[in-house]
Amino acid sequence: MKAVVTGGAGFIGSHVVEYLVNKGFEVVVVDNLSSGSLENINHLIRDGKVKLLIKDLKIFDNELREALKGATTVYHFAANPEVRVSITEPRTHFDENVLVTFNVLEYCRLNDIGEVVFASSSTVYGDAQIFPTPEEYPARPISIYGVSKLLSENLITGYSDIYGVRALILRFANIVGPRQTHGVIVDFIKKLRKNPEVLEILGDGTQKKSYLHVNDLIDGMRTALEYLRSSSNKYEVFNVGNVDWITVKEIADLVVEEMGLRNVKYVYNPATLDGRGWVGDVKLMLLDVRKLMSLGWKPRLTSKEALREAIRWVKGNLEK
Ligand SMILES: NC(=O)c1ccc[n+]([C@@H]2O[C@H](COP(=O)([O-])OP(=O)(O)OC[C@H]3O[C@@H](n4cnc5c(N)ncnc54)[C@H](O)[C@@H]3O)[C@@H](O)[C@H]2O)c1
Repeated sequence: MKAVVTGGAGFIGSHVVEYLVNKGFEVVVVDNLSSGSLENINHLIRDGKVKLLIKDLKIFDNELREALKGATTVYHFAANPEVRVSITEPRTHFDENVLVTFNVLEYCRLNDIGEVVFASSSTVYGDAQIFPTPEEYPARPISIYGVSKLLSENLITGYSDIYGVRALILRFANIVGPRQTHGVIVDFIKKLRKNPEVLEILGDGTQKKSYLHVNDLIDGMRTALEYLRSSSNKYEVFNVGNVDWITVKEIADLVVEEMGLRNVKYVYNPATLDGRGWVGDVKLMLLDVRKLMSLGWKPRLTSKEALREAIRWVKGNLEK
């Protein structure tokens, strides 16, 4: 019962680690701590339940290969998750997302690790024209981040077909909750702490997207994985998101309310003529999650409820 979590010191990865420890797994975390933090999993390391290997997955490493031997599943969550940066630094995103995925798959192939769970993203769909957007909708990303996730998916399904690695590809909507360190909430709270009178909103505020609490994600991952293991399919793709969506302006209102502020002036800063927050920003995102819901999964919190909980956590923990 040994599992590997890449990016296990990060926001979502650390929740995956906790879930696996609770299931009785011996967990090996591989993380270079570039955006993750030791603090997220320190309690589990201290208890001897998790082993942390501080390694950069961009570099193929025989020592690391040895250390991963005997694992049954790799939960591949390491990546550079900053969509905005991917436009200005495409090579970074290729290396940190695609090359890293390739190395992870090589560790699987060489060590006979038979199963991979991959953190993909709604950004693979780009500017979809159908909402909610189903899994079979053609993928046409508009950011290098989205492209890097799609390339990774292709590598994974290739390894699945060619080498028989069973794979679960999860296309996440925007995920929020304890330990998050990036995204719209963090941006708004940081700005309002600096200046509680004015809030700069990237984009025209009408961007509308779906938000899912990280606990609902873990539950969705568990449901999808049980399904994959019971089916004869080599791989499966699942959207994992909420059934509703919310605008950026509404999120700003929520943050302002939760911070107990009044009369905050919103200053909109669109990066494109059609009001995107940055080049490569998908303006509308609502995933069709009926495939996952047909297996009995259901998000417990709406987008607004999940955001409110996350705002409260970020407000109380940002400095730490
Ligand atoms: N947060 C979201 O809303 C969201 C949405 C869709 C997909 N995802 C995907 O989910 C995964 C986790 O995202 P997150 O929000 O928890 O981000 P995060 O930045 O908190 O976690 C990423 C982790 O990967 C580690 N890492 C990065 N590059 C590495 C490398 N070269 N070698 C070893 N470790 C490395 C970081 O240190 C960090 O701990 C990512 O793959 C991300 O693309 C996240």
